[in-house]
Amino acid sequence: MKRIILLGYMGSGKTTIGKALSLALDMRFYDLDWYIENRMRKTIAHIFSERGEEGFRKIEYNMLHEVCEFEDVIISCGGGTPCHFDNMDYMNRQGETVYLKALPEVLYGHLSMGRVVRPLLGGKTQGELLAHIREHLVQRETFYQKAKHTLDVSLMDDYEKIKISVQKLRKILNL
Ligand code: S3P
Repeated sequence: MKRIILLGYMGSGKTTIGKALSLALDMRFYDLDWYIENRMRKTIAHIFSERGEEGFRKIEYNMLHEVCEFEDVIISCGGGTPCHFDNMDYMNRQGETVYLKALPEVLYGHLSMGRVVRPLLGGKTQGELLAHIREHLVQRETFYQKAKHTLDVSLMDDYEKIKISVQKLRKILNL
């Protein structure tokens, strides 16, 4: 039984890599944010505005425990998932955790295109965003670095490079 759990900052490509890996390995893919939105029938932004971050984190904790019971799956969690409760230790017990590590400038590039609404980044000007990512990433890396594996994804900006990242990931995981 295999369970692969991808983690990393917002904009690091967890969903993109997760989907590509799922196709390559013919394994089911679950994105934790999508799972939450489906189960709650509400967007993440809506949950944040109704219940605040604290309320969202409790729901996220419960849903993480649901998806991490599924077998032979690839899971991408939210950027903040590893940083709350004992989620990081729990994920390490449940599967092969991989930190998708990217430079702040790369994350900024992806996030400033901003197709997905991210409540934690709302209201920041482009100028503030890079400084925020730099500071926030330093805090979060304490958690991310507990992952069993790390994959550098700073160069993952086109289809060929995504393919290369997937190959590297398969090598790391012996799959
Ligand atoms: C969050 C990241 C988001 C989502 C929520 C909070 C975070 O997921 O879970 O907006 O705390 O970093 P993505 O990393 O998939 O954007």
